[in-house]
Parts: sequence; structure tokens; C-alpha cells
Amino acid sequence: MTSNIDYIDKIPNNVDLGRDRVLQRALEHWQPAYMGWWYDMGPNESHNYDVYLRTAISVDPEGWAVFDYIKMPQYRWGIFLVPPTAGREVNFGVNKGQPAWQDVPGEYRSMLRRLIVTQGDTEPASVEQQRMLGMCAPSLYDLRNIYQVNVEEGRHLWAMVYLLHRYFGRDGREEAEALLDRRSGDVDNPRILGAFNEPTPDWLAFYMFTFFTDRDGKFQLSSLAESGFDPLARTCRFMLTEEAHHMFVGETGVGRIVQRTAEVMAENKIDDPDHARALGVIDLHTVQRYLNFHYSVTLDLFGGDVSSNAASFYTTGLKGRYEETKIDDDHVLGDATYNVGTVRDGRVVDEQIAALNALNERLRDDYIGEVQAGVERWNKVIEKTGIPFRLRLPHKGFHRQIGNFAGFHISPQGDVLTEAQWNAKRDEWLPSRSDYTFVQAMMTGRVVEPGKFANWIAPPRRGVHTQPIDFEYVRFN
Ligand SMILES: [Fe+2]
Ligand SMILES: [Fe+2]
Repeated sequence: MTSNIDYIDKIPNNVDLGRDRVLQRALEHWQPAYMGWWYDMGPNESHNYDVYLRTAISVDPEGWAVFDYIKMPQYRWGIFLVPPTAGREVNFGVNKGQPAWQDVPGEYRSMLRRLIVTQGDTEPASVEQQRMLGMCAPSLYDLRNIYQVNVEEGRHLWAMVYLLHRYFGRDGREEAEALLDRRSGDVDNPRILGAFNEPTPDWLAFYMFTFFTDRDGKFQLSSLAESGFDPLARTCRFMLTEEAHHMFVGETGVGRIVQRTAEVMAENKIDDPDHARALGVIDLHTVQRYLNFHYSVTLDLFGGDVSSNAASFYTTGLKGRYEETKIDDDHVLGDATYNVGTVRDGRVVDEQIAALNALNERLRDDYIGEVQAGVERWNKVIEKTGIPFRLRLPHKGFHRQIGNFAGFHISPQGDVLTEAQWNAKRDEWLPSRSDYTFVQAMMTGRVVEPGKFANWIAPPRRGVHTQPIDFEYVRFN
């Protein structure tokens, strides 16, 4: 990478990068390392493909989604903040009413850096987790969608690295490098959060991940979008516009799988979901087990139910609640309380604690409300075919590793079991080795003929942007 970067063209941005020499130098140093990471850990064998992608080149309605064929290593990873709001204030915590910070408040520096690094680390992690899936895509449409998600996660990494470079000096630059050094699932240098070290071995897992785990991203970004540190708030607001597409890919992906399965069951008059496998579709019990897994590991991402860190992030004004400014209360939460679940005498009970310490749990509950609505939409798809099966979210305490339920053996119905009782049911509740083998066996090879779809998934209702479903979304060259 030479120093003659045309900043607007190469790194589309609205942060006046062309004039900021210090930031330019930092990014010039980081960009080749980023490209090295992309070639190494980005989508396998994809570097020469022409992919029909959207690129954000500005934050205007006309500029944030420009569609064209592009080779992914040439994707223009840009830096965008939504425009500032005049007179914006810190809207919660002890600093409520102060003008929003345009620079890092010194006393909160390390806390703020940690929030940015933790968010930033998830972005490249998911690209790493998904890097082999292009090899077994069920259609060109789906292949294009996963690549779109991947390049945007790459851009989200840029967004966080911009904040580290621009506002944190030397330790920010070190953190930015470390973001390229960690690897999902690596024993010695793993990604920071658990769910981002789990494999995403097949397309059912990918759709579950984008439905459940990208949505955790949405809720984290939404609460950071409330931050009193204005550059973080504005960055996250723009990232949320892209995140919506990732969740769309997940919701419609799972929806198309259950649609296909239920239609095949109805056509063949199959009542027992376990008999669907013989017809080359993914049985609904397996879909439920994947759901149980991805839901539970994603719930852990919200952190402990009782958390003094969450209280500090809030009290200082760095991380708000979901839709903080729409909530009708004092935004300080001095005396407020909140209910969290816990296990007492072998039963799950509610416990009232200080609302400030329960902010992770509150965000988790907001999240659960949204995923519940999505599961109901999947059930509508199944219902339409006349098949009586319904998907369900397991109990909040099921299969948890973090928080009040960690260490207990809780069934999807919410009963506290012994370890032996739980283990005896494990393969009914979570994907077993043989489930993964079955699903992966169905996904050998990719479907490359425009408009064709693998047998286990229904076509989408419409194509991407203005294109038809049988458009050539990826050209392999
Ligand atoms: Fe992201
Ligand atoms: Fe995402």
C-alpha cells in the first residue's frame, strides 16, 4: 500500500480523512494488515469472483447502498458516521444533561476502549466462522448474501478501528492490530466472546447465527448508539442500517428451510417429523435443536444477569439501554428495581435487584421479545402448510454458561434437573454429532446455476435489490 491513497475513492468516508494526517498514517499502516487478514480468513477461494454487492459510499439515502459487481478484495471498506445532532447531550447516568462528549473523557478512557474492542472483535470473528460456507451454498442468491454479510462485517471492523485510531492514540493502534491477530476458535488467541468461537459448520447454523447472533449485535449497537461519547453513537447508528440486512438473511433463511420441509411433509402426507429426512429435507426437530443451541449461546453474549460492569457503563453515560431516549423514567435508575431469574431450592424463581445491576438482563429481555416475534413468523410459515409442528424458544436458563443459570442443568421447559437427567436428554435438545453429519451431508457442493436452489430450501420471495431471483449474483471467472 503506497501513501498515495485517494481517500474518498479508496476509503469512502465522511470523517474528512483526507485532511487528518495522523489518522491517515495509522490507517495506511493498518490497511495492508487488514487485507492480509481478508486474504487469509475471508471467504474461501472467493477473491476473484465478481459479486453483486451493495457498497455504502455515503450516508445519504442514495449513497448508502450502491449495487454493482465487485471483487471482494476491492470492496471499498468505508468509514461512516451519521451526521451529528446539534445540541446532543449525555442522556442518562450521572453525567446526564452535559453536552455529549466529542473526545474521550479521560476518566472513562479504558472502559470506553474496552467497549469498542469487545464490539470490534465480533466483526472479523463472524467472517472467520463463516469462511468455508461459500463452498456449499444452496444458490447464487444465498452465496451473494453471505458475501454481503461478510464484507459488511469487515466494514464494521473498520468502523471500530477508526474509533481506536482516531481517539485512542498508541494503545488504540495496538488494540486495532490485536483485532487482526485473534482468531475464532483458536486455542491460544481466541476471539473475546464465547459464541464467536463456536464453529458455523453449515447453512442452517449460518442462518441461525445471523438471526440470533447478529441480532445480539443489533441490541449491543443500539445501546452503544445511545452513548454519551458522540462519535461512538454516530458510528453505531450507521452500522445498524447494515445489520438489518444480516438479520433479514437469517430470518428468511430459516423461514425458507422450514417452509421447504413443511411443504415436502404436507405433499408426502408425513406426520412424523423424523421421517422428513428421507425426503432430502431438514427435519423440524433438527431445526429446533439448532435453534436451542444458537439461542442459548447468544443469550450468554449479554453477560451476567447481575453486573456491576453494566452498571458502570450506564452510570458513566457510555452505554445506554435499548432505545434509552424513548423510555419514560429518570434515566439515572437510582432506586429502580428489575426482576432477574435465578435458581433457589431446585427451582427457577424471580429475584428483584437494583435496576442498575440488571442492565444486561434488561437488554437480554428486550432481545428475547424480538426473537420471539421472529419464531412466531416461522411458525406461521409452517402453519400455512397444515403441518401441526411449532418451533419454540427454550427457557431462558437452558444451556447457559454465563450468569445466574450457569452451572445448573435446566430443561427447555425451565425445570432444574440433575446433571445425569440433563445429559440423558442432551441429544434431544441440542444438535448431536449425527445431526451435524446429516445436515452437512446434505450440503456437499454448491448450487451454481442461476435460479436453482438446493432441495432443502425454498426459493426466496424476491431477488436482491431490483434483480430477479435467477439473476447471476456471482460470477466465478
Ligand atoms: Fe457487524
Ligand atoms: Fe452483522
